[in-house]
Amino acid sequence: MTGEPISEEEMLTLFEAARWAPSTYNEQEWRFLYARRDTPQWPLFFDLLVEGNQAWCKNAALLVLIAAHKVFARNGKPNPVHLFDCGSAFENLCLQGTAMGLVVHGMSGFDYAKAPAALGIPDEYAVAAMFAVGRPGDPQQLPEGYQEMEKPSGRRPVQESICEGKFAFGTQAS
Ligand SMILES: Cc1cc2nc3c(=O)[nH]c(=O)nc-3n(C[C@H](O)[C@H](O)[C@H](O)COP(=O)(O)O)c2cc1C
Repeated sequence: MTGEPISEEEMLTLFEAARWAPSTYNEQEWRFLYARRDTPQWPLFFDLLVEGNQAWCKNAALLVLIAAHKVFARNGKPNPVHLFDCGSAFENLCLQGTAMGLVVHGMSGFDYAKAPAALGIPDEYAVAAMFAVGRPGDPQQLPEGYQEMEKPSGRRPVQESICEGKFAFGTQAS
C-alpha cells in the first residue's frame, strides 16, 4: 500500500457493502471498530498487530477489527453462526474494495487476548479478525520476503473440498 489516505466516502461505501450481508434472523452480528492513519486511534489498533503485519500495515489507510455478537439480540441465547455471518460481511466488503481499486487484506496475525481490553470490547462479543485497507502500492517497496507473497495464490482443486455424504477427507492425524 502507498500510505495515502482513503476518503470518508470511500470508507463508508465499504461498510455499506458489508451492511447488506445476509445473517441469521437478520442479526447483523458484525461490529466494525476502525482507526485511520495519523489519528489518535491508530496506535491502539496498530500495536495489536504482530511484527510481520506491522511491516506492511504501516502503509495502510485504515485498520479495522471485526467484533461478532455472540448471542442473539432477540433472546440472549448463543448464536452458533456469529463468526460465519461476520465472514459474509467481510467478503462483501472485500469485493466492494476490490471493485474500487483498493487493497482489503484480512488479518489473524494480531493479539486476540489483548484486543478486548485495548478496545473496550464487552464479553458478549467475540474478536473475529482484523483487516487493513489502503491504496495499492509498488510491491518493490515491500521488505524482502514480502514481495514473493504478492504473487497470486492458487487454490486446491474443488474435488478436494467437497464430498457426497459423510466426511471423507483426510485429517492431520491420518
Ligand atoms: C481472516 C484472514 C486472516 C488473514 N491473516 C493474515 C495475516 O495475519 N497476515 C497476512 O499477511 N495475511 C493474512 N491473510 C491473507 C491470507 O494469507 C491470503 O488471503 C491467502 O493466503 C490467500 O491469498 P489471496 O487472498 O491472495 O488469494 C489473512 C486472510 C484472511 C481472510
